[in-house]
Amino acid sequence: TFPVVMDVDTGIDDAMALMYAVRNPHMDVRAVSTVAGNVSLKQVVENTLKILDLMGASDIPVAAGAVAPLNSPARDASYVHGADGLGGVELPAPTREPVAEHAVELMRRTIMESEQKVTLIACAPQTNLALLLRMHPEVTENLERIVFMGGSASVGNATPVAEFNIWHDPEAADIVVKSGVPLVMYGLDVFNHVAIPDDVVAGLKASDHPVARALGGIAGFTYGDDEDEPQAYSLIGDAGAVVAAVHPEMFVSSEHRIEISLADEITRGQTVVDQRAQVGEDRLHGKKIDDIPVAEVVFSAKDEMEVIRE
Ligand code: BDR
Ligand code: CA
Repeated sequence: TFPVVMDVDTGIDDAMALMYAVRNPHMDVRAVSTVAGNVSLKQVVENTLKILDLMGASDIPVAAGAVAPLNSPARDASYVHGADGLGGVELPAPTREPVAEHAVELMRRTIMESEQKVTLIACAPQTNLALLLRMHPEVTENLERIVFMGGSASVGNATPVAEFNIWHDPEAADIVVKSGVPLVMYGLDVFNHVAIPDDVVAGLKASDHPVARALGGIAGFTYGDDEDEPQAYSLIGDAGAVVAAVHPEMFVSSEHRIEISLADEITRGQTVVDQRAQVGEDRLHGKKIDDIPVAEVVFSAKDEMEVIRE
């Protein structure tokens, strides 16, 4: 097993990511940090605690983190996740409070105290990660890699070209990709295509098991519960990034240089993935090639159903 810290903005698909992560035998989730994103920080904290209670994982510490991006106002996505961020699925009130430490301190302590290098899985805007890297740069030495759901080498969702997590806090993402920690980018190129068929969701919803039933309700809401525009599937979203952290062999990926657009224009928050066949310094217009961070960019799942079954 490998040690993991998760950063989330729960969020329907963050909920699925947490459910998968805490039950996965290959990884050991040591801490969960939360950040404003899909819904307000207060709601994210409550949702995260509820999901961990449901999973019998109430011993994993949860800390509250940044209430807003570094340099922009918080702009939630409750239009996608429902006002409560869990698509209206009702769960019992949390049995505990978050820890008293700030998320940045919980992350620092967990990473530095680990006997083995830690994998950071980020399913949310990267505000907490950027604060951590700026306040405690020594953590990079004990980080194995950062696997993040975010970005796109093709289409955006928050804007035509920008993915929500990066667009919500581009300055934070810029700090993260330049940190020198090995990066895996699980962006919309793959995210938009790993989906649970409707009959599977219906089966989960009808289950007697509380976890399966909640999963069905959450998955059924995911980007699809619109009466006027019914969809035949529900995305597994952030959960796919966790699968990619455990099973890279299930995905098609390749290494590329990536940059975050910080422009105050139509490209703000875009992840520019350099897929040119040749990238010599002569094609970088004055930039030094080693100054541009490299990420393992995931483009697709080899077999989407295999990812879903996992
Ligand atoms: C990402 O933004 C949020 O809506 C989801 O939870 C996911 O992390 C997709 O762009
Ligand atoms: Ca998320």
